[in-house]
Amino acid sequence: MRPEAPKSVEGAPPKVGARPHGILVVDDEPAILESIDLTLGTEYRVFTAASGEAGLKILAAEEIALVIADQVMPGMSGVEFFEQVVQRSPGTLRIMLTGYADLSSLIHGINEGHIYRYIAKPWEPDELRFDVKRALETWELQQRNDRLAEELRCANTRLESENRFLRDEARGRFSFAGIIGDSPAMQQVFDLTEKVAKTDATVLITGETGTGKDVIARAIHYEGGRADRPFVAQNCGSLPETLLESELFGHRKGSFTGADRDKEGLFDACDGGTIFLDEIGETGTPMQVRLLRVLQDGEIRALGSSAAHHVDVRVIAATNCDLRKTVDDGDFREDLYYRLRVVEIELPPLRDRRSDVPALAQHFLGRIASRVGSSLGGFTNGAMDRLVAFEWPGNVRELENEIERVVALSGGEELVATGMLSERVRRSVASDVPSSVEAGNGNPQASLSENVDALKRRLILAALHDAGSKAGAAKRLGVPRQSLQKMMKRLGLFPGDV
Ligand SMILES: Nc1ncnc2c1ncn2[C@@H]1O[C@H](COP(=O)(O)OP(=O)(O)O)[C@@H](O)[C@H]1O
Ligand SMILES: [Mg+2]
Repeated sequence: MRPEAPKSVEGAPPKVGARPHGILVVDDEPAILESIDLTLGTEYRVFTAASGEAGLKILAAEEIALVIADQVMPGMSGVEFFEQVVQRSPGTLRIMLTGYADLSSLIHGINEGHIYRYIAKPWEPDELRFDVKRALETWELQQRNDRLAEELRCANTRLESENRFLRDEARGRFSFAGIIGDSPAMQQVFDLTEKVAKTDATVLITGETGTGKDVIARAIHYEGGRADRPFVAQNCGSLPETLLESELFGHRKGSFTGADRDKEGLFDACDGGTIFLDEIGETGTPMQVRLLRVLQDGEIRALGSSAAHHVDVRVIAATNCDLRKTVDDGDFREDLYYRLRVVEIELPPLRDRRSDVPALAQHFLGRIASRVGSSLGGFTNGAMDRLVAFEWPGNVRELENEIERVVALSGGEELVATGMLSERVRRSVASDVPSSVEAGNGNPQASLSENVDALKRRLILAALHDAGSKAGAAKRLGVPRQSLQKMMKRLGLFPGDV
């Protein structure tokens, strides 16, 4: 055999930077080994062995992409050798050299999947190079496939665990874990929420804006049996009627101007889950009829479609208006109203549960400060007094915004001081409840006893806040515990208001 220069034709292009592939040649004829070495040795790392046994030793020690072996050898035959190779290095490609028509073992080897292809002796060097190149390309593809499959498997596992993490986080975020409220009013809300979460009952959540209606709706979903299914929120006040209907129920192509294709609605998207319809009082009559149908029969009909189909969706609705009054005014169907408020959860405004303010403020401060890396860790008594006294027309959301603002404008302080609060919160105190003894400036419109009561209320709340217990507060205020208890009752402060 004459040695061929690599440039001749089919030789694999020299790989830049990568190590040449390892090829193991096994044949009992030294001339053949030599000839193959000459043909392939310039482009590949060629290893030679005179027997299958010797070949297996090399296979164990070297990185071999391809083995070429003679079929007929003393000792281990080519097919037997390949069987061993398959076991020990299944990724390695195998080419059989056949000296004469040993057809039956060849067929056996091919059928058993032990042989990638065979080359008949004698061969043309170009042909050998070509076959080897092809084989190695296949091998590379296989390797890449394996690597990708492995990467995919890892990515899947990672996604799965991320998914699990996100689900747990969603549960953590929206379950009771992050909801603050020690006031008796909120404790009642939580009790009811917990009970209703275990059922599939339709719930109507009422309360001023910012009181936590979203929070409670999510808690009901994530504490209940549908937690693994979607939770979808839709504000009914934010879209024109037709778009809202289409959003919730879907539409058929051409059902209205702009409906240029079929669209699935949210009810279908969250089948098995929960839909939260915020500002339900804003819906018009056609929409109300559709909702009634869902609540009565669990059936929806897409816009422009004549066929209804069944969905399994829990409905939670919310409103910040007086829905009863909307019904009385004739703007909301009474039957729908009753269907919606199978259970009603009423969220009291923050000003009616001021004892929740310190914990909420602290909760938001902790969360926001750690998010932005602020050093703020608490409030001065004066600042907390102001926060407790403020009316919070925007309720918990407004308190959260206030804390966000404080943190944003702070500069290295450890405590939030009165001066850092926004002006309306700072000022509110004078017009609302007398702030402190030092200020001494009550509400000029209120009677003396009203002012005195308001002042007492503030002092008691401040003492409770500072002392952390009723006994401590009584001591601080210099009154017996029972007197404090009585006074609190009279002033409308509840025992839980610590
Ligand atoms: N009890 C609570 N504990 C903790 N955060 C609350 C609570 N109530 C409301 N929030 C927060 O206040 C903001 C307003 O609440 P949200 O549920 O959106 O109010 P609504 O839907 O009634 O307008 C949200 O950022 C929410 O996380
Ligand atoms: Mg809301």
